[in-house]
Amino acid sequence: MRILFLNGPNLNLLGSREPEVYGRTTLAEIEAKVRARAKEMGVEVEFRQSNSEGELVTWVQQAKERFEVIVLNAAAYTHTSVALRDAIVAVGIPTIEIHLSNIHNREEFRHKSLLAPVCRGQISGFGVNSYILAIEAAINVTDTKK
Ligand code: DQA
Repeated sequence: MRILFLNGPNLNLLGSREPEVYGRTTLAEIEAKVRARAKEMGVEVEFRQSNSEGELVTWVQQAKERFEVIVLNAAAYTHTSVALRDAIVAVGIPTIEIHLSNIHNREEFRHKSLLAPVCRGQISGFGVNSYILAIEAAINVTDTKK
């Protein structure tokens, strides 16, 4: 199984960005943890970050035929991007929405995810562990109902 991890805007700043909300782990360190766990679980991962909505849309489109599951931390685009939502629907690859923070106990504008209704599920609020839990969810995603 090949899992595509996509990270949205400002996640390249993890480590120094609002550490009281997001912790002090950098995105490179998260990637290393994901790779170590994926290796244990016998799955392949690709890990990318972009600040550009269009680039994320293109990566979702290109995932077809190459990846079985997408794990998506769309960051702020979670709350705004009809384009990302449409791309997820268009490619039809099971997608798991993740967040480091619990978006439901933060500002009101973060409570709404435009992506959640077209994702298989959402993992939110477990810090770096949201990424690790997503590997488990991805491996079992074919067993879960659409
Ligand atoms: C985030 C939550 C979003 O609301 C925010 O815009 C982010 C990060 C998270 O991982 O907790 O940039 O996706």
